[in-house]
Amino acid sequence: MPVSRRTLLKASAVVAGSGLIGGLAARIGAAATAPDVLEARFADASIAADGVTKKIMTYGHEGMPPVLRAHKGKPFAMRLLNSLDEPTTVHWHGVRVPNAMDGVPELTQPYVYSGDTFDYAFTPPDAGTFWYHPHCNTLTQMGRGMTGLLIVENPADPVFDADIPINLRDWRLGKAGEFIAPFKPRDAARTGTYGTVRTANWQREPRYDAPAGGLVRLRLAVTDVTRIYTLNMEGADSRIVAIDGNPIPAPFAVDHYDFGPGQRLDVIVRMPDGEGATVTLSNARGNNPWVIATLRSVGPSLKRDLRDVKALEPNPVAEADLDNATEIPLELTATAENTASPSICGSIGYTFWAINRIPWPGDTPDPIAPLAEMKLGKSYIFNLSNRTPHTHPIHLHGMSFRVLNSNKRAVLSHMTDTMLLLPDEQVQVALVADNPGDWVMHCHIIEHQKTGMTAYVRVV
Ligand code: C2O
Ligand code: CU
Repeated sequence: MPVSRRTLLKASAVVAGSGLIGGLAARIGAAATAPDVLEARFADASIAADGVTKKIMTYGHEGMPPVLRAHKGKPFAMRLLNSLDEPTTVHWHGVRVPNAMDGVPELTQPYVYSGDTFDYAFTPPDAGTFWYHPHCNTLTQMGRGMTGLLIVENPADPVFDADIPINLRDWRLGKAGEFIAPFKPRDAARTGTYGTVRTANWQREPRYDAPAGGLVRLRLAVTDVTRIYTLNMEGADSRIVAIDGNPIPAPFAVDHYDFGPGQRLDVIVRMPDGEGATVTLSNARGNNPWVIATLRSVGPSLKRDLRDVKALEPNPVAEADLDNATEIPLELTATAENTASPSICGSIGYTFWAINRIPWPGDTPDPIAPLAEMKLGKSYIFNLSNRTPHTHPIHLHGMSFRVLNSNKRAVLSHMTDTMLLLPDEQVQVALVADNPGDWVMHCHIIEHQKTGMTAYVRVV
């Protein structure tokens, strides 16, 4: 819970004790239904080894944005209070919300200006690991800290001995901990610009204690603006049980699993029996693997068994009718380099990328036509084709889709909201257009998104 919730409760207690009889019942009634407040604000924090990083952008008052918890099928409400000095919004990544709650300026809601509030309210249909972030000036706002986890709980979930959310991200900091230029144009036109300081839950190589012989549910989310991870684990048996919030039918061990910006993994770890034994989570991508975090066994062994874990309940996502689905081509390309016009939600000044030949940065008052108009309730197949030599995590708002096949590899046929497309890969994904509205679709490498790799579909 953000601290502001407690502040609100305190405030209502003051009203109750102040002897203002007139309207007291109404005030108490209002307090009982007042939403929690998520304050977007500036803060200072120690991220780099030396020095304090000033003007971090975050939510809440506890350093890292709070891990929010919602419940499957139960109403969730959150009031965004903007204490930044620029407009912002909140997007609930992966949650199938009504269009007006999706957080995309111009397309789904007004900008939330400095000092203003916006009430988000929705009932999450799916349980799992999700996250939240702004959809305005995102390279800066997300790059400077505004990325948090949202866990949607299900009372039917199996019980674990520990539940550890891990927010994976980097920071572009100089030697004294100061923010440096958020990107290099040369890199934006390639893989994206990497951070200089790598963190898990805003810490470098944090260690978490967990019961020896116990079962831990790790909830990993890549909230970084650029980095793709190859996740590896040593020292314990593990099972990936859900990908991007959706349970998978055949869990498998963590062994060099690739996942990128926007994506999540739920991993069950069976802690070693010996007190003090450690489990190491690392990023094995590139030439220099490095430690993300470690887990340490504490106490006498609980002697649990990975096979005791009952399967997670599947989310109620409609299955596409493949025999009657309409195909939609979706081609990712580089585009002629160009300058981009300024926008209320920030522009990084360049155009490098396009979807179906149209470069569009999104989050702008300057709309383009939808990439496709889809009929409510009908099935569609997106033919995603990556005509670039880079990997792109492609994210669709508002609806989940099933991965069908790839021309390059055997794919897990899982349900997701963000698909990692390999260089020159062609992938088919299927969905039912069951959520009305305009939904953006973009690469989640934010420099790619903001330099043209964005489009939207319309469901009517
Ligand atoms: Cu996390 Cu538009 O997305
Ligand atoms: Cu990309």
